[in-house]
Amino acid sequence: MPDGSIIIKENYMPDKTLAALTVMYKEKGYDPAHNGWFWAKYSPTGEVRAEGKVGMCNDCHGKQKDNDYTFTGPLK
Ligand code: HEC
Repeated sequence: MPDGSIIIKENYMPDKTLAALTVMYKEKGYDPAHNGWFWAKYSPTGEVRAEGKVGMCNDCHGKQKDNDYTFTGPLK
């Protein structure tokens, strides 16, 4: 993904209520060990629940290291 990329995921519960928003933002030079990704998690009302170099985000998305830490689709 190019520097400056932003990916936002809306996380819904099975009953279709919004549980959280999770965000990946790629910033040049931010966290070279993790391809520059800044992670953030917000409540549905915009309260910050996690931000920055979040270990659990990097750990799980790290399984997709060869796909620039993203799950949804293969990058070319
Ligand atoms: C236990 C594994 C796991 C953890 C922890 C996790 N994610 Fe994910 N994330 C996924 C999976 C799997 C997907 C693919 C879409 C889906 O299944 O919801 C995903 C998708 C995403 C996407 C859409 C882009 C993509 O990779 O497809 C964003 C943005 C995202 N996660 C942000 C975060 C943030 C921010 C955190 C930490 C607060 C986080 N994730 C923690 C597993 C995880």
